[in-house]
Amino acid sequence: MLNIVIFGAPGSGKGTQSERIVEKYGIDHISTGDVLRAEIAAGSELGSTAKNLIDNGQLIPDELMVSILSAKLDTLVGSKGVIFDGFPRTIAQAESLKRMLNERGQDVTVMIELDVPEEELMTRLLKRGQESGRADDNEETIKKRLVVYHEQTSPLKEWYKKEGKHCYINGFGELDRIFSDIAAAIDSRI
Ligand code: AP5
Ligand code: MG
Repeated sequence: MLNIVIFGAPGSGKGTQSERIVEKYGIDHISTGDVLRAEIAAGSELGSTAKNLIDNGQLIPDELMVSILSAKLDTLVGSKGVIFDGFPRTIAQAESLKRMLNERGQDVTVMIELDVPEEELMTRLLKRGQESGRADDNEETIKKRLVVYHEQTSPLKEWYKKEGKHCYINGFGELDRIFSDIAAAIDSRI
């Protein structure tokens, strides 16, 4: 089983590169942001809780997020592995992911960190906001998302370094070059 955590700030290219990883390695993709946006679109109770937090650039509470992820993992049948996109986002989530995978006789294979300068993140997200209308892609909310990333999520780099899973990728530049660096990192771990 190939379990990949794709990690990085808002706009670092997690979703974009996940699509390519899915195509090359034939694994499943779980994007917690996409799961939450689907709940919002469906008008569920979870969706309305999530909408307030997402629009304000804040994280959904760990306990709720872990139960969503666990339910999602249970729906996968005959999977060759998973790319986790946007999860974990806190140390508590990383510990839960480790436990959930261990319970299933698995582990994280590699954590790929996409590093992109902050100015570029802002440029990409403002552009996508104009093109797609994603509600949290406005300057005020992007700034809050970046603060949350630095305070709550970036400590995971050290956590995964200690686990021996961390792999740094320069996420600024050509899509093809970034993908080939990611593929080389994955291939070196399998
Ligand atoms: P989520 O949907 O995960 O958003 P995010 O982390 O802010 O990241 P994005 O999806 O905006 O960016 P990305 O890294 O996927 O980049 P992309 O490939 O799209 O989460 C949204 C919210 O949900 C959170 O704020 C939180 O509230 C909540 N949430 C989700 N998971 C949670 C969790 N585990 N716990 C608690 N709360 C959670 O690329 C961005 C743009 O750049 C695109 O337009 C793309 O075309 C472009 N682009 C990509 N690569 C390049 C490149 N190399 N050069 C130029 N442009 C590029
Ligand atoms: Mg994304």
